[in-house]
Amino acid sequence: VLLREELAGDEVLVVSNREPYIHAQTATGLQVNRPASGLVTAVEPVMRACSGTWIAHGSGSGDRAAVDRNDRVKVPPARPSYTLRRVWLTKEEEQGFYYGFANEGLWPLCHIAHVRPVFRSTDWEKYVEVNQRFADAVVQEARTDDPVVLVQDYHFALLPRMVREALPKATIITFWHIPWPNPESFGICPWREEIIEGLLGSTILGFHTSYHCKNFLETVDRYLEARIEHDTSTISYGGKLTQVESYPISIAWPDADQAQPDIVTCRQQVRQELALPENHLLGLGVDRLDYTKGIIERFQAVERMLEQYPNLVGKFSLLQIAAPSRSSLDEYQNFEARVRNLAQRINKRFGSGVYAPILLRVEHHNAEQVNRLYRAADVCVVTSLHDGMNLVAKEFIAARDDERGVLVLSQFTGAARELHEALIVNPYHIEQSADALYRALTMPEIEQRERMRSMRSLVKDFNVYRWAGRMLLDAARLRQRERIMTKIR
Ligand code: G6P
Repeated sequence: VLLREELAGDEVLVVSNREPYIHAQTATGLQVNRPASGLVTAVEPVMRACSGTWIAHGSGSGDRAAVDRNDRVKVPPARPSYTLRRVWLTKEEEQGFYYGFANEGLWPLCHIAHVRPVFRSTDWEKYVEVNQRFADAVVQEARTDDPVVLVQDYHFALLPRMVREALPKATIITFWHIPWPNPESFGICPWREEIIEGLLGSTILGFHTSYHCKNFLETVDRYLEARIEHDTSTISYGGKLTQVESYPISIAWPDADQAQPDIVTCRQQVRQELALPENHLLGLGVDRLDYTKGIIERFQAVERMLEQYPNLVGKFSLLQIAAPSRSSLDEYQNFEARVRNLAQRINKRFGSGVYAPILLRVEHHNAEQVNRLYRAADVCVVTSLHDGMNLVAKEFIAARDDERGVLVLSQFTGAARELHEALIVNPYHIEQSADALYRALTMPEIEQRERMRSMRSLVKDFNVYRWAGRMLLDAARLRQRERIMTKIR
């Protein structure tokens, strides 16, 4: 309701690469899947609440025979409330735009995970072309000349400016879901000026943390002739203003009347399914299989802990859910091989009989399955080497209405700036993470409750509607100001 009030009847268009529902043709008919994406987890409930149109890349575009061919579908399937408009990319476009420039260039450029970005001019050309195709789709879908356009993530750095040129009265809110690095790091991108200029087509440009905002302002300062008002965090470029602000993203807090599976049952069932004894201590990692997530360092921390505390051998396992992601890229294939090898080596070293300290599951799990795991775990381990926010940390907290369970959290996540009661670690410091893991597993119940209660109240208050609401409210203020200024002029 609040979101609708803030929008005051304005038209909303969202643009993201990843679509919220993937329609796949299978032997048994059309199947609808949800992707593993923090962006989708956050934006989908917001779209349900304010309706409108979500423009996204039709998954499996390269293989159109395998998917449902409709360009427009009403979603969510059970209770349709908004339109999903799909843009189909050719294999070459998907390769250059998504795999190439976005995921081999910008992704490692913005995440400091010591993977070298790859910049190819051919990928860049496709990135420009595809941004234009999506900008055209926004213009086609817009029913008014001043819609509110919500641009999502690093796939669309150029789109704000392109939309601004076609729809000068649009309010463009761009949210960058990944970190923004310092000017030196960003400066190696051969098209750094074009990227920043593209983003400055936005009315509002949002990041998760004030640290990323500061990095962005400094990057603009370094590479463009723009006026920067540090007090108000506004950039004036080419006669247009862009407000740069931090909006920490969050999740939809579960409804009080939404029945949750019983904690005791979850604990028992999950242990049974994993063939573990009833009192087995369970650590949980939930990630896409991505080199930024610190999965190798997490396994090393488990190994170190078992070395130091041999009494835990046979009594503790880490269940690592790793959703396959971007797997046609070499870097991801190599990473998967390294993760699998390390798990095997540690299991050989400390495992015996049916016991394995690392339970690695490289497969997609749906939200209900993950929720059961959150409720069954003793500790949730998030050791990203660098992460914009990390919503797994917040989902785990939301799942623990029993106020038990401990969160071990990397200091290099946006989430660590809010969740101070987690056990904060530097994932590169294996001994420190091993200690934190041990401390989590032996933490007295009362301390678990205190920490969990405090984090729950924060995540409950600062939920994803608040994230979107704050951006829309700021946009509404700017729109109002613009209207008044136009009248005066
Ligand atoms: C990160 C990005 C999202 C992306 C998600 C999943 O969270 O910020 O934009 O959707 O990863 O990655 P994928 O490439 O599968 O969409």
